[in-house]
Amino acid sequence: MSIIDWENLSFGYVKTNYNVRCYYRNGKWGELEISSSDTLNVHIAATGLHYGQEAFEGLKAFRGVDGKVRLFRWEDNAQRMIDSANGILMAELPKEIFYGAVEKAIKLNAEFIPPYGKGASLYVRPLLFGSGPQVGVKPAEEYMFVVFVTPVGPYFKEGFKPVSMLVTREFDRAAPLGTGRYKVGGNYAASLNSIKKAHAGGFANVLYLDAREKKYIDECGPANFFAIKDNTYITPKSDSILPSITNKSLMQLAKDAGLDVEVRKVAVEELATFEEVGACGTAAVISPINKIVDEDEDKVYTFGSDKPGKISTQLYNKLTGIQTGTEKDTHNWISVVDV
Ligand code: PLP
Ligand code: COI
Repeated sequence: MSIIDWENLSFGYVKTNYNVRCYYRNGKWGELEISSSDTLNVHIAATGLHYGQEAFEGLKAFRGVDGKVRLFRWEDNAQRMIDSANGILMAELPKEIFYGAVEKAIKLNAEFIPPYGKGASLYVRPLLFGSGPQVGVKPAEEYMFVVFVTPVGPYFKEGFKPVSMLVTREFDRAAPLGTGRYKVGGNYAASLNSIKKAHAGGFANVLYLDAREKKYIDECGPANFFAIKDNTYITPKSDSILPSITNKSLMQLAKDAGLDVEVRKVAVEELATFEEVGACGTAAVISPINKIVDEDEDKVYTFGSDKPGKISTQLYNKLTGIQTGTEKDTHNWISVVDV
């Protein structure tokens, strides 16, 4: 393998040695298969290609301070993939197959797990899609499940440093009763133009508002949104956002630290009252936000300085500590992978 500069990895694709695949045919899942090719041979009429019958997941494995490899909350990702599958009528993938493939992919690519302390991790990307042909709009009869891994650095190049976000009413990511709560590819295709616009304006990403009223905060690019005010962790309640496993974990850690937690509608003007705000997700971990520009209302909201806020830092240290074994895993979120 090539020598990897662990400390300067971006959130991108690095080819590893193997990936793991599993096929659903004739109404049942087959055995796990190992491949050293990073391409797929797919039917030209696969529903995943034509009709977006596709869902993915994202989770991370970390090399700990003690050398152990820790996988964070995989069962939640497996459950979310089942929910996504039901949301777009794909075959459900049993959790044991999900874990078996993830574990195999990590073990087979152990040399790509970044060492402790380099600010990097092994990103695990499970993918499920309709591989069988249809020309009419209907679910496929065959499905393919693939897991690949790739070593990654921070999603936002700034790492754990504040970024800025754009509020725009020009594009929606997900419709109110649409697929926003599932991790399906179409949501991400729908987000590309708004992200392009945010990047062109020098912003890290987009802070989406609810598509119905354009009044309440939904989520933040590929991450959920949270705010801190009066010792309370506040995060939006919405049917069109992805239920983030990181956000769920931060809510628990906030409670553990004595904060109140509120999951409720958050009106965009409320930004003016928050002490700290941030984006959270597997890829983003916690990205503190120090500026949000609402282009239509001509408003600029600023938070703190160019340093992450106190509570965001406390939560970040606790979460990443649990993931790397420097903090106790009191909620049983970690599975050690014997590589
Ligand atoms: N929201 C969106 C749209 C995402 O793509 C992600 C990433 O998975 C998240 C939120 C964060 O979810 P999680 O913390 O489970 O990674
Ligand atoms: C993740 O946080 O794992 C994600 O899936 C975000 C991704 C769309 C890059």
